[in-house]
Amino acid sequence: MLKTLAKEIRQYKKATILAPVFTALEVLMEILIPFVTASIIDQGIEAGNMQKVYLYGGIMLVFAVISLFCGVMAGRYAASASSGYACNLRDAMYANIQKYSFSNIDKYSTAGLVTRMTTDVTNVQNAYQMILRIASRAPLMLICSMVMCFVINVRLSLIFLAALIFLGCALAFIMSRTLPVFQEVFSRYDDLNASVQENVSAIRVVKAFVREDYENRKFTKAAEKLCSLFVRAESLLALNNPVMMLVIYGCIIGLSWFGAHYIVAGTLTTGNLTSLFSYVMSMMMSLMMLSMVFVMISMSAASAKRIAEVLEEKPDLTNPEQPLTKIPDGQIDFNHVNFSYKHGSGEDVLHDIDLHIHAGETVGIIGGTGCGKSSLVNLVSRLYDADEGSVCVGGHDVREYDMEALRNQVAVVLQKNVLFSGTILDNLRWGREDAAKEECVEACRQACADDFIESFPNQYDTWIEQGGTNVSGGQKQRLCIARALLKKPKVLILDDSTSAVDTATDARIREAFAKKIPGTTKLIISQRISSVQDADRILVLEEGRVTGFDTHEKLLKNNAVYQEIYEAQMKSGGDFDEKAG
Ligand SMILES: Nc1ncnc2c1ncn2[C@@H]1O[C@H](COP(=O)(O)OP(=O)(O)OP(=O)(O)O)[C@@H](O)[C@H]1O
Ligand SMILES: [Mg+2]
Repeated sequence: MLKTLAKEIRQYKKATILAPVFTALEVLMEILIPFVTASIIDQGIEAGNMQKVYLYGGIMLVFAVISLFCGVMAGRYAASASSGYACNLRDAMYANIQKYSFSNIDKYSTAGLVTRMTTDVTNVQNAYQMILRIASRAPLMLICSMVMCFVINVRLSLIFLAALIFLGCALAFIMSRTLPVFQEVFSRYDDLNASVQENVSAIRVVKAFVREDYENRKFTKAAEKLCSLFVRAESLLALNNPVMMLVIYGCIIGLSWFGAHYIVAGTLTTGNLTSLFSYVMSMMMSLMMLSMVFVMISMSAASAKRIAEVLEEKPDLTNPEQPLTKIPDGQIDFNHVNFSYKHGSGEDVLHDIDLHIHAGETVGIIGGTGCGKSSLVNLVSRLYDADEGSVCVGGHDVREYDMEALRNQVAVVLQKNVLFSGTILDNLRWGREDAAKEECVEACRQACADDFIESFPNQYDTWIEQGGTNVSGGQKQRLCIARALLKKPKVLILDDSTSAVDTATDARIREAFAKKIPGTTKLIISQRISSVQDADRILVLEEGRVTGFDTHEKLLKNNAVYQEIYEAQMKSGGDFDEKAG
């Protein structure tokens, strides 16, 4: 995990090294200053020697300026290293997510991925900055101060050592109590983010079901839980300060008491005593900072793990060594294919599918919901890989093709399709970037989308909102079909893509396909018999098995499932379809 994360430091290696180096220099100067102060007091003020005061004053000023400079540089390098690192992490995660296959994506929730790319990266960024600035500063300060104390007076230093050990134990105890609470806070954050995201992206459904109050209550409960956890964590953390103060004042009293004795006895100078005071303060502060760094690191460890997971996820579909880029024709063969979802129930979704579809054929696919229709067609454009058997397009296994080439020549209109924010033309050109406007218009004509587009005031320049919220369901489907047609594919797959289109238009679209793209193999999934009945052949799927593959007439005669669907649709009068088509 650390290796994966460290790899993303990339061009910020220099800043990552320079920040602690400057911090170390800064600490060194800060350590020397109390030493010089002691000399001013002892050799200058006490001895009444102004010359020495000027000399040591000058030295102190130089040290202070160097320390200031180093502090600024360390701050700048730490900031640039940590923000740059966060930027690299986000870039790398985003790039890797783009490479994910469908089955990789199945593993993560959208909310989870968003939290990882935002909150988690911010956590790691903060921790990284803190490590660069403080994790090097605090131990160095602690050790140097201790050494200086021992140089000045060994016996007095033993008092601090005892105090330091006591403080260390107290802080460790408080932290051990706080940390689990903080960790819980972070996992709750995840839940909160997930619920916000789910709710906001599905706000229309929430409203349609008048679930606002319920969702509000659910959210308030989650937010309150988070709040109470925070209060608990912070109030535990608040104990740090009084403990710290207790130890500091204890040390000051001890120091004053013993110090006075030593000064009277002549074994310690006043100047040295003042330096000891400053060193004690620095030591205690360092310890405090160390404990905070520790909390910060442990809190971000969970985030780091979640980021590494995304980065280490290997796309499970890869291009072959020498990929084919040209698909000869639209012939499709399923050779005894079994398939199951890796992140699903583990049961086979498709069993022993053996199908042979000729180039240019129109095949209707029908079957109950969840019987595996979408899963079947997703294998053709290699959105998933078959577990057993092989899927061939144009006579070659889909795994032999370059994935980009395959998906450009096998166009799919997915069941859950989306439009993106941009004009209608922009959206259409997702199909093919360099398509001329005339080609876009022609594709829309074939998909029967031209009428409604031309009725918009801005026609093809009409702005589509994110997710296509400002067009109707049927209009969206037709735009998605046009987008797929622009690829001029060898195989066209429509996964329930005309479900929201009225039956008359649906029939016109099929007619246009038959006339305009006769060479393209067409797989049309539908719940409506009327949408598939004039296909060359119809595939009837039932629980992941093929139960029939024939023409409408033959299936009506000898396929029980098909007859059942047909009769149900006739009876429900669902077929004004029939009349309209
Ligand atoms: N991404 C996925 N991860 C895990 N299981 C899945 C996934 N997609 C579908 N399934 C499961 O696979 C089975 C077949 O689903 P599929 O989407 O192929 O059905 P379908 O015939 O297209 O249904 P519908 O007509 O409702 O679209 C279902 O039981 C479903 O629960
Ligand atoms: Mg489906």
